[in-house]
Amino acid sequence: MTTVAATTGEPLELHDIQAGALYERPSPYVGVYLLLRIRDLADGRDLVRRLHRLANPAGSADTPDNTSVTVAFTYHGLKALGVPQASLDSFVPEFREGMAARAEILGDTGESGPDQWEEPLGTNDVHVAVAVLSSDADQLREAAEKAREAHAALPGIDLIWRQDCYQLATGRTSFGFKDGIGQPAVEGSGRPPTNSRERPLKAGEIILGYPDETGEVPPMPTPDVLGRNGTYVVFRKLHTKVAAYRSYLRDRASTRAEEDLLGAKMVGRWQSGTPLAVSPDIDDPELGSDPRRNNDFGFADDPRGFKCPVGAHARRANPRDALDEEGSVDVRLHRMIRRGTSYGPMLPDGVTEDDGIDRGIIFVFAGAHPKRQFEFVKTQWLNDGIFIGAPLESDPLVGPHHEASGFTIPQRPIRRRLQDLPPFVVTRGGEYCFAPSLSALRWIAELDT
Ligand code: HEM
Repeated sequence: MTTVAATTGEPLELHDIQAGALYERPSPYVGVYLLLRIRDLADGRDLVRRLHRLANPAGSADTPDNTSVTVAFTYHGLKALGVPQASLDSFVPEFREGMAARAEILGDTGESGPDQWEEPLGTNDVHVAVAVLSSDADQLREAAEKAREAHAALPGIDLIWRQDCYQLATGRTSFGFKDGIGQPAVEGSGRPPTNSRERPLKAGEIILGYPDETGEVPPMPTPDVLGRNGTYVVFRKLHTKVAAYRSYLRDRASTRAEEDLLGAKMVGRWQSGTPLAVSPDIDDPELGSDPRRNNDFGFADDPRGFKCPVGAHARRANPRDALDEEGSVDVRLHRMIRRGTSYGPMLPDGVTEDDGIDRGIIFVFAGAHPKRQFEFVKTQWLNDGIFIGAPLESDPLVGPHHEASGFTIPQRPIRRRLQDLPPFVVTRGGEYCFAPSLSALRWIAELDT
């Protein structure tokens, strides 16, 4: 049994927590996401019993070839499994409502609206989500086959969606940028921080049942066996308009180097992952790929954004020490674990014509507070510019840009303003899920309601 003391003195029960939230995925890796529908209660519980045997705890050192299986449920999934209504009512409202019902709030309208989403995303048919990932293609096939066997023999279970995904060895995703670098450390996870300026988060920010940054143990789903050691998971399939993004930059730059710089200003990092805050004028690929240095920075010495624009994607998503002085927002209450991954083939380098192929990111959030973490960051910091004093500017890379949006690049003697940003990211669908502990999976499988 693995327990690691959190600084509260309370041990984090790693043997009971599914691996997905606390442990970085291997790099590179391949994976598959499966969505299942439960039509029969007994088969549903049998499915959970079988998946329980496949799911990995965060505390196991013996995961073969970094292969992992993570299991999560939507509200309608827990309902289909006969979880008592009093328990269902104890989940946070946004989980109960589901992502499609939150679309207006999240900015998922127009071509990102639920009426345009890929079937069956956003419907009440999505019950169980299974993520199978491995650093090795053969191991993935083997683990995916076990997951298939877990549901294929059960006539009351339907496989309703499947999405292959992968991470390149470079960690780069479709727009060309290395992703997944900026992550908070979590007390008790055993993983050291990569940013020396940021104390590890209290475990209760990510895992339910432990004190969070407010000093309290946040309310969690009841009974305790269902809520404790679980975490909320938000996943979104995000289509990326890579050709449009490249053309936009090309039309506004006179050299390839200027294109790269404009792209870096939008993201807050160079494509290699090098933070602008550390190296504002040139990319430094060695720094970008060095995990000891590529996340070790703040923005306090650059309040006006001459190095990294205050409107850059990564600075909006995590303003770090830049908001400290105002004392109005505690950035630590809006941190999150991200487990993003690519889908679809990369657009070959240099191509600016759309080839019509679907490509993008499966964005995955894990945390104990979907509203003040994922939803807050998405709505207040990415979709809205009020907090940076630019109400009409949304995130240049991932903002909805329903109305023509701009992006300001502070520079001397005169700032540069990019105009008429079109949307480069379209939501194809998503779900709010709950990834329970291993003992909760057993509890669900053994329910006799
Ligand atoms: C297709 C959509 C998206 C793309 C292409 C994208 C890309 C990136 C890239 C390239 C980085 C910098 C590398 C890193 O620090 O990991 C980053 C950082 C980040 N993104 Fe996104 N992102 C997307 C959507 C989102 C969304 C929807 C959210 C949250 C609601 C988000 C939250 C973050 C956070 C928290 C960071 C880390 C910032 C830090 O700690 O420095 N991203 N993203």
